[in-house]
Formats: sequence, structure tokens, C-alpha cells
Amino acid sequence: MTDFLVKRDDLRECRIAESVPAEIEPGQALLRVDTFGLTANNITYAVFGEAMNYWDFFPAEQGWGRVPMWGFAEVERSEAEGVEAGTRVFGYLPPSSHLLVVPADADGAGFVDGSAHRAELPSAYHRLLATATDPFYRADTEEIQMLLRPLFFTSFLIDDQLADEGLVARGPILISSASSKTAIAAAFLLARRDGVELVGLTSPRSVEFVAGLGIYDRTVGYDAIDSLEHGPASFVDVAGDAEVRRAVHSHYGDKLVHSMAVGASHWEELGAGAGELPGPKPTFFFAPTRVVKRSADWGRDGLQAQVADAWHPFCEWTGGWLETIRGRGFDALQAAYIDVLEGRVDPARAHVLTL
Ligand SMILES: NC(=O)c1ccc[n+]([C@@H]2O[C@H](COP(=O)([O-])OP(=O)(O)OC[C@H]3O[C@@H](n4cnc5c(N)ncnc54)[C@H](OP(=O)(O)O)[C@@H]3O)[C@@H](O)[C@H]2O)c1
Repeated sequence: MTDFLVKRDDLRECRIAESVPAEIEPGQALLRVDTFGLTANNITYAVFGEAMNYWDFFPAEQGWGRVPMWGFAEVERSEAEGVEAGTRVFGYLPPSSHLLVVPADADGAGFVDGSAHRAELPSAYHRLLATATDPFYRADTEEIQMLLRPLFFTSFLIDDQLADEGLVARGPILISSASSKTAIAAAFLLARRDGVELVGLTSPRSVEFVAGLGIYDRTVGYDAIDSLEHGPASFVDVAGDAEVRRAVHSHYGDKLVHSMAVGASHWEELGAGAGELPGPKPTFFFAPTRVVKRSADWGRDGLQAQVADAWHPFCEWTGGWLETIRGRGFDALQAAYIDVLEGRVDPARAHVLTL
């Protein structure tokens, strides 16, 4: 077994660890991790590894962590009922060659990893979906699925919540880190609603790229937030950058209708107490919590079907501008990880990796 490890208290340090392949016991299955996507979202899992228990999904040796990824794996061996060797699944995986799981609730759609150490962790991360029956799956879009599917799911829920709370009709919606995949997917979905005005906020270097996507009505650099008109607006904060947040809250003051804290792509610029900000207190948006709500409202299959319907046109559209960079082995993974960590990846490109 091979694991890509990151030092928990210094995310820039990483190394490979080799160990003897696990023996599987009755009730267990061994997955061979095939390929996974790597974006700023995975860096956020590491940044909040302790605070939000992301390190606990895939335990590693003391002081080190396995950063969770989204990708494909194949059941290499199985001693679990209803789980056949050779089954290809999509789900939450470690950057490792293998993962030992304890399948539960196995059926034609896949199974959940019922390992005891995961019992208290959010259930949205436990399901491994069999590609054979997955409504999202198409063999020719595997790369896009690894990169964008979890982010798109979040974006679908953001769009749904903004509409559900009537915020789409109360002035423009500002989205920070407008060049990120999560923001782009949210903007893509919001742009399909009548009367929505979208403002993309991004780094000056990415203004041209964001404007070129054609989904935001206006693109504004972080250095030009003052140029926005005053009036009611909502803020979807994907950057998590204290300075950007302060600039938006100060500019709009009490006219800011809602401030939704979604991400932390500017992970080294977090900070600043929310209580000191003008305008509404930012509310944390956590996709797994909204999944629980909409699963209760629509049923798990109902939610999946709605997201899958919205997914296919989005997936097709990204083919027009998103380029994937394939990498294999430790050196490629390390180089990609450091590039994503340092925010050096061109927003029109994204990494897909195999350890
Ligand atoms: N709350 C939830 O449930 C939830 C769910 C999914 C994702 N998210 C969050 O959404 C955020 C975006 O994730 P993604 O995977 O969509 O990102 P991505 O596509 O990899 O984002 C790339 C963009 O993020 C900004 N960025 C990335 N790294 C940076 C760095 N080191 N310094 C400064 N800027 C940096 C830049 O945008 P700009 O120049 O435009 O700022 C960059 O173009 C993440 O923080 C993720 O955790 C939250």
C-alpha cells in the first residue's frame, strides 16, 4: 500500500509512505484507488482537517494526514456480502493506492463505508456509488466527474438555497473566488433563473478569464469592490478572505441582505472576527447539512435525480473551456498538490491524478 501524506501542522510538507497490503477479513473489501481530482476544495479539507474532522476519514500515522479526494476506485477483493470484485465506484477516497472498507447497505447502486471510525462523521461522504447504475456516470466524462461533481453538488445546493430564501430577487448576487469551480457552477445555475444579476469577484489576474465565461453579468477585481453600486445585494463568499469580506461588508453595510460563507480558497487570508463586520453576520454554508434537509424533503433519490438533470448540461458546457492535466506517481501528485496549495493553477485547468 502506498499513501501520500501531508504534515498536519505544515501543509507544505508531504511524503510517501509504503506499507504491507492489508489482509481482508470477513465483511471487508479492498478498494484499489484509481484516479482522483485535486482542486482548492481538497486544500480546504486539509486546512480544516482538525477543526472539521476531515483528517479522521482516512487515518494516518501521528502528525500526518491523508487529504480526502473525490475519484474512482475498483473493488480489488471482497469478503463483503453484495459487493463484487471488479465493481467500479465513485466516492470520497484517500490519496493512496488502496482503501480498506467495511461495506454496509450494499445494493446495485453501491454501498456505504460503515467502518467504525467513520460513524460520527457526516454521512454525505460515506457512499461509494457503483458506476454501472449511477445517473451521473458516463465513461467519457470521468475526469470532469472527479473534478467537478462534488463541487457541482454544493453549487446546486447554494443555488437552491438562495432561491428557496428569495434572495435571487433581492439585488445582485456577488460571488467571490468567481474563478473557482464551485463559484462557476453556482453562477452557471443561478444564471438560468429569471432576473438574477450576478457579479463575479476575483483576483485582478483572473478578471479576463471570469468575464470570458459569459455567466456573470459583471466581473470585478478584488481591488475594485468600491466601484459596485450601492443597494441591496447578497454575498456568496467562496474565497473566505478576511480582507475581501470586509471590503464587501463595508461597501454595502446594512444593505447587504445575506452573507453566505461557503469556502476558504484564500486559505492563508482567513481570520477577522465576524462580529466586527458591518451588515449581516456571515452564515456558514455546509453542503452535507443541506443534503440532509433536501434528502428529507425530496428523498435521497429525488435529490440525486434533480442534481443529475442539472449536471449533464453543465458537464457539457465545461468541455468548452476546462482543460485537465493528468499526472501519475508521487512526484506528479506532489507537484500538483503544491501548485494547488499555493494557488498557482490557471483557473481554466485542473489536476487529475493517480498515485
Ligand atoms: N461549504 C461547502 O460545503 C463547500 C463545498 C464545496 C466547496 N467548498 C469550497 O469552495 C472553495 C473553492 O473550491 P474549488 O475546488 O471550487 O476551487 P478551485 O476551482 O480550485 O479554485 C481556484 C480558485 O480559487 C482561488 N484560489 C485557490 N487557491 C488559492 C490560494 N492559495 N490563494 C489565493 N487564491 C486561491 C483563486 O480564485 P480567485 O482568484 O477568483 O479568488 C483560484 O482561481 C474551497 O474553499 C472549497 O472548500 C465549500
